[in-house]
Amino acid sequence: MKKDLLSFSGMAPTDFEEIWLRAARLKRMLKEGKEYASLKGKTLGMIFDKSSTRTRISFEVGMYQLGGIALFLNSRDTQIGRGETLADSARMMSCYLNGIMIRTFAQESVEELARYASIPVINGLTDLLHPCQILADLFTIQEKKGSYEDVKVAYIGDGNNVANSWIEAAACLPLELTLACPEGYDPDARMFKESKKDGKGYVHLYRDPFDAAKNADVLYTDVWTSMGQEAESQERKRIFKNYQINEKLLGVAKQDAIVMHCLPAHRGEEITAGVIDGPQSVVIDEAENRLHVQKAVLEILI
Ligand code: CP
Ligand code: NVA
Repeated sequence: MKKDLLSFSGMAPTDFEEIWLRAARLKRMLKEGKEYASLKGKTLGMIFDKSSTRTRISFEVGMYQLGGIALFLNSRDTQIGRGETLADSARMMSCYLNGIMIRTFAQESVEELARYASIPVINGLTDLLHPCQILADLFTIQEKKGSYEDVKVAYIGDGNNVANSWIEAAACLPLELTLACPEGYDPDARMFKESKKDGKGYVHLYRDPFDAAKNADVLYTDVWTSMGQEAESQERKRIFKNYQINEKLLGVAKQDAIVMHCLPAHRGEEITAGVIDGPQSVVIDEAENRLHVQKAVLEILI
């Protein structure tokens, strides 16, 4: 495993397996009420340039459960928000902290921070990628389906950070991934190139959600308007209206298909209330697994 978790680039299947194996053990121990203070005395700084519920809570609670603490650093309230460079912030924070988790806009900012930090840096979401989410999602798929191999995942909607991380995962792992995105809202072309070059998995982009969802084991979606795109919200509602996980789309997936969403969800937009609150939805288990998987990542990196 590398020093940082910025993306899945360069990760071997064994790196993923190490995280999931540890996550499963940490989850079991937590359910059995066993304490495990592997990060006693360690501190994680959490820099947030965007809102968060799950990422913030799961990292903060995760550090606490492992015997360490997490500091919530809203960049508006730190000198980063007043123009202190990421290089100086990284060098200085490396003296106080044992790790940094950052949620921000540009992937380049996360990479710059990692370049100057001597401590591990974890990408807690950028405009480009959301690796922690997909690590938890693949862990959830293994819990529900026994394995991620021979499982068809269909991603319906915006070719955003979550979609890009799915494609990146398919460059590392033998996944079958289909996506349906409207024209002009495709995932990042670089991710596709990587997945073609290194691709262990099968990735195919469709325009029609029904083509992507056909016989899928997992139907996955995310919001139509990501953080930072709020001004486009009305236009996106119009463009994405056919890219909804609803009862009809679920009907073309396998009968025992599960439905996933990274959350937060907008019922009536990218997913219907009937589906997300229905028996095939695993969104709450998926959110819970952010905690267990990130604890494993923290242990391994710190
Ligand atoms: N899925 C996810 O990252 O949620 P938050 O934005 O609430 O952290
Ligand atoms: N694509 C969404 C994910 C939120 C967890 C966003 O970036 O806002």
